[in-house]
Amino acid sequence: MHAAVLHELGTPHFDDFPDPVAGPGEVVVTVAAAGLNPIDVSRAAGTFYGGPPPLPSVVGSEAVGRVAGRLGRVYLTGSVAPYGAMAERTLVREETLMPVPDGVDDGLAVAFGIAGLAAWLPLAWRTSVAPGETVLVLGATGVVGQIAVQAAKLLGAGRVVAAGRSEEGLARASARGADATVAFGELQGAELTEAFRDAADGDVDLVLDPLWGMPAAAALDALANSGRLIQIGQSAGATAELSSAAIRGRLREIRGHTNTLVPPDVRAEAYATLLGHAAAGRIVVDVEALPLWDVEEAWAKQRAGGGRKLVLVP
Ligand SMILES: NC(=O)c1ccc[n+]([C@@H]2O[C@H](COP(=O)([O-])OP(=O)(O)OC[C@H]3O[C@@H](n4cnc5c(N)ncnc54)[C@H](OP(=O)(O)O)[C@@H]3O)[C@@H](O)[C@H]2O)c1
Repeated sequence: MHAAVLHELGTPHFDDFPDPVAGPGEVVVTVAAAGLNPIDVSRAAGTFYGGPPPLPSVVGSEAVGRVAGRLGRVYLTGSVAPYGAMAERTLVREETLMPVPDGVDDGLAVAFGIAGLAAWLPLAWRTSVAPGETVLVLGATGVVGQIAVQAAKLLGAGRVVAAGRSEEGLARASARGADATVAFGELQGAELTEAFRDAADGDVDLVLDPLWGMPAAAALDALANSGRLIQIGQSAGATAELSSAAIRGRLREIRGHTNTLVPPDVRAEAYATLLGHAAAGRIVVDVEALPLWDVEEAWAKQRAGGGRKLVLVP
């Protein structure tokens, strides 16, 4: 079969790969669209904290597709190695599949998988948004961030501040419901904290943080007493310099989140909820589809950013 194959750490190539054969508890899924996420790029590069992939292997962490003899589409994440989602067919544990209802196309159903869950679950499961709270979304120009802006509103936030680098991405966040935006520009440290507070009209109650690094440290300083920062990624840096007083002195909390450690029933319920919002047009995200043979171009586009979910179609 055709697949995006990683032969050495770096960028995968369009190639042939042996077809998967299902063992006990496993199913073969015919892939309709596979999502590209930052984790795929870092895993293929060997820089993901969870360790490098086996070589050779098929890349890709999520897809929508079909199982022979079964009605309807399924969403999958976490293929059985060395198979990955970016292939004509992949291999998964049957109990990990989630149904995809009619009313959302393949690309959207992929976008609300890893990215959608990373936006929704931190706000709805790792913590909750109390009615009227002010939520600051860092990296609101990315796929997770733009979903999080809309999710925060749906979950009851009174004011949502979108922050990021790209002016175009911030304009999109405004169009999708952000009440105010903060462009990082040259702002650093205390100046950035002040910009967050200005945009929030006061202290921030909750931060969704896919960035870490300097922006997360500045956002932490903008939190109210007992405010929470939910940490989900490190697009701006693997480390951040935080003062003890910034956390201790105001009873603030930093909580981590990774989709992979969420109980399956919580994940399935959240995914169904997100697809309901997507089908009703309450959460919108841009999707760009590329043919699977163009996987190297997809890698380059993901590295360059752009704020749309890239999907590969076999
Ligand atoms: N914990 C989980 O389960 C989970 C799940 C999914 C994703 N994530 C993580 O969440 C993060 C965002 O994912 P995504 O799918 O939204 O990716 P994406 O669409 O590629 O967006 C990347 C975001 O990071 C920003 N960014 C990149 N480099 C930056 C820098 N040096 N300084 C400041 N901002 C920077 C981009 O800002 P501009 O566009 O403004 O340049 C953009 O907002 C990634 O780190 C990803 O690994 C975690």
